[in-house]
Amino acid sequence: MAPPRQLLSLLLLWWIPSTTAGPLRPRILADTNRDGVVNQRDDAGKQHWTPGRGAIFLPNIGDSSHRCPVADLTGKPLSNHELSSCHDSSGDLLPPSSTRYAAPLLTLPLPHVSDEAEGRIYTEPAHASNRVRLFWNETDVMTGYSSVWAVVNRQVTFNATTLRKGISLALDGRELVTDSKVWDGSITVVFEVTDRNRTVRDSVAMKQAPVLLHHHLQRAEVVLSSAAGDNRTIGSAWQAHFLRGVEDAVGGDMPVVLFNQTTDRTDIWAQDFLEPGYASMPGPEGPVSIRVLLRSAQSTREAGRQVFSQLRSAGIGGFQPGPGSGFGWEEINSGGNIETIPPYTSRSGKRWPTGRVVMGTHFGTYPAESMTTFLRSQGTQTPLFIEAGWLVIGHVDEMVQFLPTNATSLGFTVAIADTTAAISLLRTANASGHGDTPFLSYTGDATPDELTVFLDPNMLLPNTTISTVLADPTFHETQVYAQKYLDQNLRLLLREIPLQENDILRVPTLFKDATYPWPAMPDGLPRRLNLPHPGEKQLKAMVPQALNGLVLGNGKYVAPKQWGPVVQGRDIFADAVEKVYAKVGMQVKWVDDYMTHHVRGGEVHCGTNALREMGAWWEGE
Ligand SMILES: *[C@@H]1O[C@H](CO)[C@@H](O)[C@H](O)[C@H]1NC(C)=O
Ligand SMILES: *[C@@H]1O[C@H](CO)[C@@H](O)[C@H](O)[C@H]1NC(C)=O
Ligand SMILES: *[C@@H]1O[C@H](CO)[C@@H](O)[C@H](O)[C@H]1NC(C)=O
Ligand SMILES: *[C@@H]1O[C@H](CO)[C@@H](O)[C@H](O)[C@H]1NC(C)=O
Ligand SMILES: *[C@@H]1O[C@H](CO)[C@@H](O)[C@H](O)[C@H]1NC(C)=O
Ligand SMILES: *[C@@H]1O[C@H](CO)[C@@H](O)[C@H](O)[C@H]1NC(C)=O
Ligand SMILES: *[C@@H]1O[C@H](CO)[C@@H](O)[C@H](O)[C@H]1NC(C)=O
Ligand SMILES: *[C@@H]1O[C@H](CO)[C@@H](O)[C@H](O)[C@H]1NC(C)=O
Repeated sequence: MAPPRQLLSLLLLWWIPSTTAGPLRPRILADTNRDGVVNQRDDAGKQHWTPGRGAIFLPNIGDSSHRCPVADLTGKPLSNHELSSCHDSSGDLLPPSSTRYAAPLLTLPLPHVSDEAEGRIYTEPAHASNRVRLFWNETDVMTGYSSVWAVVNRQVTFNATTLRKGISLALDGRELVTDSKVWDGSITVVFEVTDRNRTVRDSVAMKQAPVLLHHHLQRAEVVLSSAAGDNRTIGSAWQAHFLRGVEDAVGGDMPVVLFNQTTDRTDIWAQDFLEPGYASMPGPEGPVSIRVLLRSAQSTREAGRQVFSQLRSAGIGGFQPGPGSGFGWEEINSGGNIETIPPYTSRSGKRWPTGRVVMGTHFGTYPAESMTTFLRSQGTQTPLFIEAGWLVIGHVDEMVQFLPTNATSLGFTVAIADTTAAISLLRTANASGHGDTPFLSYTGDATPDELTVFLDPNMLLPNTTISTVLADPTFHETQVYAQKYLDQNLRLLLREIPLQENDILRVPTLFKDATYPWPAMPDGLPRRLNLPHPGEKQLKAMVPQALNGLVLGNGKYVAPKQWGPVVQGRDIFADAVEKVYAKVGMQVKWVDDYMTHHVRGGEVHCGTNALREMGAWWEGE
């Protein structure tokens, strides 16, 4: 009985050293040296992929021809899974519009093969093969024109004519790496040629680019916010006012795109229902990148579907967290609870060339596994956890921010909310005889609606003054409580990031105790907000929280208008905040979010988002 063909070829590969294989020496190349072109220089070490060298390919998950539907033929909305499953690589076509996202490979011409020679090109291992697509540029020999990218698999054989000319190939990913235990993105492309009695193989190792989350050293290219529906919608007049403010602050520096596809028109929290990321590979004219927008792990949060229904397009795809964890709409799983430390080397010497994700835990509760596993599986920005359970919403973006600066050798610094700085502003004003100044200067309409759950009319009374606030023991208890966790989290960050105490920017912030027995959601779904942990409080910002703003990366910082005490014609909070950001060369652009966001549980950052520049991550490896 003849041995199976594969076994035979394996044996030949194993036992016949290439020197005795004579002139039959098939070679397949990809962009192993990452210079954007495939050529002989890619031959060395191509079979062994390392973070510093090795060919990269992209998950080709955009929708370049807008073919993906959002509803079925009866008009019923697709399920989350169905919605996310359609994209450019969900079929077997590589249309010209998405060719640029496929990584090039080629086989070198084999001019000396006999007429009987036969070649095969396929991917290994088997469990990875159906996660990628391989195409060859099938040239129409009659016209000499390349006609079409045809799928290549084990069944496709290449004849002597084709082998002699060399084969131009393209490979892309059909899916994201969601769990590295299942697949870490690695693939081997094998080129196997049989000529007369010999079979010789060559191969090249490739790996799918990790999905990276943006950090603030990357400039914003597009600002996102939410149109939040029409005039019948709760709060929509406020949202229109907010959006005018954002437009003015951005000032035409970049487009402002508004989410406008959701049926839940109250979801104005553009920071929270998605987290923008990207994947890149080298190309001949610089990196080729595709945006990968992570929908939050909040399966019933309708607004997250806009990742697919509105933004998915050429060069933009989405990640739908899998089933299991992340059901419902819990605040711990919002995008506002996902921030990124820019690139650094830790105190213990570990390099984080693409930075590192920071997420908040809520007293032992972690964000959804579908998201944390996804982030860990990218292998580059493994999350660091800090405590956010002391906040009623509980997001990292309510306490810490990473700001670009040339003042530190890392190129960035940490800004942190600070109650001490804020109290001292009040004390100074009181000491200079301004104790009777109203604590807040907001004088606009403050008519409540169903979602202004944190609106406290007492805060706006003229007899709530600097001195009455300072005289309130509960106020001080609350600040001490907040500062304990702020200090704890800063210590944790500084044990990791080699910055000094005096590098840290302290943004004056005051908190209010908003501990509240959250009612069950009317739809019977899990509660959005956790019940307070026994013995703990749940706080939110008392004055619009300056740190919760949008870093554009061009020296502008879009922050919530303070409405702090006005002493001698100056808002003392606004002045202090401007001074802090001026230290890192940032000019604050104030946007009034008092009624849109502040009294609904967030601020400017929560209500906006940004698509940022996408870098050549491999250069740091
Ligand atoms: C096929 O490959 C050649 C050479 O790389 C390229 O010029 C041509 O555009 C490709 N054809 C298609 C259909 O992309
Ligand atoms: C070899 O393959 C090419 C591409 O499939 C085809 O166009 C050509 O006719 C084949 N040549 C022979 C001699 O079979
Ligand atoms: C294979 O072919 C070579 C010459 O081309 C010959 O020397 C060798 O004996 C052959 N081997 C087998 C197993 O037929
Ligand atoms: C919404 O309100 C604005 C301002 O009041 C008005 O100009 C516009 O026509 C209204 N749109 C709808 C759809 O009612
Ligand atoms: C939604 O926003 C997009 C821009 O992203 C715009 O092209 C489209 O017309 C808007 N749709 C509606 C219904 O306003
Ligand atoms: C840091 O310095 C570089 C080079 O002078 C400059 O391009 C960049 O804008 C500076 N960044 C900041 C945040 O000041
Ligand atoms: C503040 O004024 C309101 C009415 O304007 C009054 O009800 C309240 O008691 C006053 N509070 C204090 C602390 O004086
Ligand atoms: C505020 O200032 C007044 C007058 O200077 C002083 O009596 C009072 O003790 C101060 N209050 C606080 C809390 O510092």
